[in-house]
Amino acid sequence: MNRLLISISRSPHGRAFLMRKKGVSREEVAHRLDDAMSGNVDFSSGRIMGSMCTSPHPMAVEAHMRFVESNLGNPGLCEGTLELEREVIKMLGGLVNLPDPHGHFLSGATEANITAMYIAKKLTGRRKVIFPRSAHFSVHKAIDLMNMEPVKIGLDDDYRLSMDDLEDSLDDDVAMVFAVAGTTELGTVDPICMIGDKVNDVPIHVDAAFGGFVLPFLEELGRVDERFLGWDFSVEEVSTMAMDPHKMGLATIPSGALLKRKGLEKGTLAVPSPYLTMPISYTLSGTRASGAVAGAYAVMTHLGREGYLEVVRSVMDETTYLMKRLLELSMEPVIDPVMNILAVHHNDPISVQERMRERGWFISRIEDPKALRFVIMPHVFRGALDDMLKDLEEVLRGV
Ligand SMILES: Cc1ncc(COP(=O)(O)O)c(C=O)c1O
Repeated sequence: MNRLLISISRSPHGRAFLMRKKGVSREEVAHRLDDAMSGNVDFSSGRIMGSMCTSPHPMAVEAHMRFVESNLGNPGLCEGTLELEREVIKMLGGLVNLPDPHGHFLSGATEANITAMYIAKKLTGRRKVIFPRSAHFSVHKAIDLMNMEPVKIGLDDDYRLSMDDLEDSLDDDVAMVFAVAGTTELGTVDPICMIGDKVNDVPIHVDAAFGGFVLPFLEELGRVDERFLGWDFSVEEVSTMAMDPHKMGLATIPSGALLKRKGLEKGTLAVPSPYLTMPISYTLSGTRASGAVAGAYAVMTHLGREGYLEVVRSVMDETTYLMKRLLELSMEPVIDPVMNILAVHHNDPISVQERMRERGWFISRIEDPKALRFVIMPHVFRGALDDMLKDLEEVLRGV
C-alpha cells in the first residue's frame, strides 16, 4: 500500500512540485493503481451492505468506456450521445408515467435536486421549501445554495411525510414541496398522491433517486402495498423528479437524471455558452460524462423491463430472507420493508456497526429511531448474508 510515485522538487522560482519531472513507466503506474485498488472494498465481495450503489452491469461498463472521451457539455461535438440522452430520458419518463419527458442527464440526485429547486424558485418567485425530515441531506445543500428558507416537517407513524404538518406549513411563500419516493434510511414512500390534493399551485419535486428504479418494477410484480401507489407523474402536481441510474439502474457512476414535466421552460437553468458548439448551456455541470449516458442506455436496453423485474424480484427475496433471519435474532424491523432497504431497531447501532466493521462488514445505521440499516443491493448474495449473520450473532452476544 502507498507506494509513492510523487517526489518533491523545486522550480527556479521556488515552486514546490509534487508532480515528478520525469514520468514513470506504465508498469510502475499500474502497480501504484493496484495498491490503491487494494485499499478499496469491492461490491463483488458481498460485504458492502450499506451502499445504494452497486457493481455496474458489464454492458454499462463497456459502453461507458467506448464513450469516455466525449463531453456532453459541448453537445455539438457529440450529437450521437445527445441522441442517446434523449432516448434514456424517454425510457425513464416511461417508467414514471411522464408521457412527454423532458430532462437532462446529470451527475446524480444531488445535482438533480439542486436543479429542481432552482426551477421551482424561478417559476414561483417564492422562498420556502417544505421537506420531510426523512429527506436526503442533499436538500440542505440545495436550500443553502439557492438561499431558500427550509421548512422541515415531521413524519407520521409510518415514517412518511406528515400530512398534518404539511397542511400547517403551506402558505403563499412556498416554492416547492420536496417529497421522497424511496427514502434513503428506510426506503419508504411519501403520500405523494395526498400531497398533490393539498398543494394547489405549489410544485412537487419527487426525489426518486433510489425508488425510481425499484417502484415501477415492484408495481409490475404486484409487490407494492396500495398505500404507496400514486408516487410519480400520474400525480398532476408533480413537476420534477430525480432518478439515479447509478443506484438500482446498474449504470456506471456518475449517472443521475432530472425529469421535468413539459411547460417548465420559463424556469429552466439556461445560460449563453457562446464559445461552445451550442449557444445555450442547460445544466449546472458544464462538462458532462457521455460515458455515463451510454452506460445507462446500454444497460437499460440490454436488460429491458424483464431484466429489471428479475433484479428487483431477487433483491426483494433476499430482503425478505434477511428480515426473517433478523427476526430470529429478535431484531424488529422499523417498518416492513417497502423496497430493498431494511432497518432493525437496536439501542447501540454505532458500536454494532464498529464491531461489524472490524470483521470486514460494511453495514449502515440510523440515528432516529436508533437502528441498524441494510441495503440489499444486487451484489449482496445469499452466502454473504449468511456469513454476515454469523458475525452479527456473535457481535450481538458480545463474543
Ligand atoms: C433519496 C436520495 N436522494 C438523493 C441522494 C443523493 O444522490 P447522489 O449521491 O447520487 O447525488 C441519495 C443518495 O443516496 C438518496 O438516497
